[in-house]
Amino acid sequence: MTTATAHPNIALIKYWGKQDRPGNYPATPNVSITLSGLVTQTTVQEADRDQVTLNGQQVEEDKILHFLRLLRGSFQISPLHIDTHNNFPTGAGLASSASGFAALITAINAHGGLGLDQQMRSAWARQGSASAARSVFSGFVTLAPPDWQATTLATAEHWPLNTIVAVTNERAKSVNSTTGMARSRSTSPFYDPWVKSCQEDYTLAVDAIARQDFELLGETAERNCLKMHSVMLTSLPALAYWNPATVGCMQVVRELRAAGTGVFFTIDAGPQVKAICQANDVERVNAALQSVPGVQRTLICGMGNGAHISSL
Ligand code: PMV
Repeated sequence: MTTATAHPNIALIKYWGKQDRPGNYPATPNVSITLSGLVTQTTVQEADRDQVTLNGQQVEEDKILHFLRLLRGSFQISPLHIDTHNNFPTGAGLASSASGFAALITAINAHGGLGLDQQMRSAWARQGSASAARSVFSGFVTLAPPDWQATTLATAEHWPLNTIVAVTNERAKSVNSTTGMARSRSTSPFYDPWVKSCQEDYTLAVDAIARQDFELLGETAERNCLKMHSVMLTSLPALAYWNPATVGCMQVVRELRAAGTGVFFTIDAGPQVKAICQANDVERVNAALQSVPGVQRTLICGMGNGAHISSL
C-alpha cells in the first residue's frame, strides 16, 4: 500500500484548448502556483480488479480508467484499488483533477517501481489532465513551448504569494473542462484570438514573476482569466460558470484594489473566485470576500509542495 499527497494549482495564465495531436497537450502556454492547504491523498494497493473510491464512495471514473489503460501500454501494472480523498470540493473548479492525477501517478510510480523521475511523472500526469502536469512541481510552474514539459519557474521562497479561495457553490460543475474546451474551439469566434494572445500574456507574467512585479502580474492574470471566460461565454451553448456571488467577489476585489490593497482575482471552469495577494493583506482580503452574499466559506492557501510520497 502506497500513499501520495498532491496539491491543486491555480493557473495565472490559463490553459483552455488542446493541441491537435495525441498526448493531451495544451494549446496555450500557461503558468500556475501550486497551493498549500488544499490536499489530495491517494492510496494504491493490489486488488482483484481496478476499483476507485473517491472520498469513501465507490465511483466509475472513466478518466482514471482511461489513464490506467494508457499506463498499461508502457508498464506492467496489476489491478489496483485506488482510494483518493480531497479535503476540498471535488470537480467544482478547484483543480481536483490536477492534484488527483499528480497524486495518482506519484503513488503508482512508487508502488509499482516504474522508475519515473519528476519530469516523467509530470508528462504522464498531463495525459490524465493537462493541469496535473503542473501539480507535480512546487512554486510557480510553467507548461509551455517548446517542449511543453512542466517545470518550476520560481520557488515559493522567491515570492510567497497567498491565495484566498471564495467558495460560492460546492457542487460539481455541469460541463467538464475537456468537453468545454472542445466546444469552445469549434464554436467560439474568440477562440483563435485567445490562443494567439496567450503567448504575450505568458511572456508578461513570466517577467512579472521574475521581477516580483505584483501590479503587472495582477493586471496580466486578471485580463487573461477574463479573456478565457469571454471564450467560454461565447461558446455554443454558452459555458457560463459564474453565479451572482462570483460576480460579487470580482467586484469586491476591484474595490479593495481601488482603495490601495494589492490583490487580483482569477476564476477557472467553475464559480469559485481565487484572490491572490501578499501576506500582509490576507486578513483584509479574506474578510472582504466573506462579506459577499452567497460566499459559503473561504480557504486560505499559501504555496504548496509538488506531489510526493507520504507513506509506503
Ligand atoms: O487540466 P484540466 O482538464 O482540468 O483543465 C484545466 C482548465 C483550467 O483550470 C480552466 C485552466 C488551467 O490552466 O488550469
